[in-house]
Amino acid sequence: MTLLELEGVTASYGPVQVLDGVSLRVPDNGAVGILGANGAGKTTTLRAISGTVRAGGRIVFDGKDIRGLRPDRVAALGIAHVPEGRGTLGDLTVRENLRVGAYLRKDAKGVAQDIDYCLDLFPNLQNRIRSNASALSGGEQQMLAVARAIMSKPRLLLLDEASLGLAPSTAKNVYDAIRRLRIESGIAMVVVEQNANLAFTLVDSATVLETGRNVLTGTSAELRGMDEIRRAYLGG
Ligand SMILES: Nc1ncnc2c1ncn2[C@@H]1O[C@H](COP(=O)(O)OP(=O)(O)OP(=O)(O)O)[C@@H](O)[C@H]1O
Ligand SMILES: [Mg+2]
Repeated sequence: MTLLELEGVTASYGPVQVLDGVSLRVPDNGAVGILGANGAGKTTTLRAISGTVRAGGRIVFDGKDIRGLRPDRVAALGIAHVPEGRGTLGDLTVRENLRVGAYLRKDAKGVAQDIDYCLDLFPNLQNRIRSNASALSGGEQQMLAVARAIMSKPRLLLLDEASLGLAPSTAKNVYDAIRRLRIESGIAMVVVEQNANLAFTLVDSATVLETGRNVLTGTSAELRGMDEIRRAYLGG
């Protein structure tokens, strides 16, 4: 079954059109990557899904047309967006950030269990639970951003450049945890990532965007084997 489907999605900033007919299909429990150079429209595609940019075309989530819905409505349907630059709340502690992630939930017991789960998934956060988010390292902030999204109990996670600015070993830790989350929770994912090697450890398939259009779509194994992908995204 298809959980999310984009067809011919367009978007503009002012007069400048930056998405020119993007398509994407995410199966239930699936993880799909979006690759592409700077400015290709990866972030804007995630914004179109989460309702933070106005979009044209078709965006259907769980059989429901969500294009044009306000971001809070989209979130309430079970789509959690971990934005580029992380967006944790610096003046709040780690625990408070996690609680903010769960603000729509009424099941106090489930929330407490999920906080424990997040701290098990990201043990670094356990030691910093009372620290302000602004005092965390870049890697810890990324972990917190993902954990906060988990706290909303999403059915679909939108991840934007989770490895950006992190040391390779930290980026690997973050992706290892997200892969574990995927296996244990079955949460579907759209994964925007410049580091295709990392992306391919997590996603089943991916699409490559160029100036707001899909130019190539395939399984991770297919894409990994292509010379043009190796040259552009895999360092040779
Ligand atoms: N708020 C904005 N206002 C105007 N133009 C924007 C805005 N955000 C992005 N753009 C432009 O839209 C195009 C697509 O940007 P987008 O952020 O979606 O690309 P991206 O693939 O995520 O790039 P990167 O890899 O650098 O994050 C780019 O040309 C960018 O300059
Ligand atoms: Mg981006």
